[in-house]
Amino acid sequence: MRTPIGLTFLFTAIFILSFAFGSSSTRSSAMTGTSSFGNNASTTLENLQAAFNGESNAHAKYLAFAKRADEEGYTKVASLFRAAARAEEIHFNNHAVVIRKMGGEPNADIKSADVKTTAENLKVAIEGETYERDKMYPDFMAEARSSGNTDAFLTFRFAKTAEAEHARLYTEALANLENWKGTKGTFFVCPKCGYTTSDPNLQKCPVDSTPKEKFESIS
Ligand SMILES: [Fe+2]
Ligand SMILES: [Fe+2]
Repeated sequence: MRTPIGLTFLFTAIFILSFAFGSSSTRSSAMTGTSSFGNNASTTLENLQAAFNGESNAHAKYLAFAKRADEEGYTKVASLFRAAARAEEIHFNNHAVVIRKMGGEPNADIKSADVKTTAENLKVAIEGETYERDKMYPDFMAEARSSGNTDAFLTFRFAKTAEAEHARLYTEALANLENWKGTKGTFFVCPKCGYTTSDPNLQKCPVDSTPKEKFESIS
């Protein structure tokens, strides 16, 4: 049976066009096992994996910094590191849910933390939080928005807002380091988004309206 010349031409044209313009969506569908997240699904998934890895490492690092702060007598700083570590855990769990929804498997390479003095550890923590607040999460949010991936956008936005509070609290700790020695501190962490505060009068999460009584209190 012969295929009419017009049809052959049409199939050839479709084939060439699909290579020229369809490769990224074909690749991302294959990688993610879904085609419902737009053409940049592979990039969104890569960003989610990078954020999952970053939050997992921050969690481990802050627990190590908390231990050192306790050893040096900075008990309130230790409480803050533990609260922030819990928030990072909430973030990587949130990221993992979206990664799995996209057909991926969360993967982290946990490096052993470089633990120095508490003052130095706070500076490192401020640098990390500032980078996530000002660069990493804004870039990831913009990409998720352009891809139409609302789940990814939301988990990035939750994390970005909490990192901004972490940067602020760490800066406050560093500026008042000697006053934070030998004193107790309690911090409150939203179980949904990881928002972290020392304000005992907060009524609800400013990010997602979770009522204060559901917050985890960490000292
Ligand atoms: Fe943080
Ligand atoms: Fe929240």
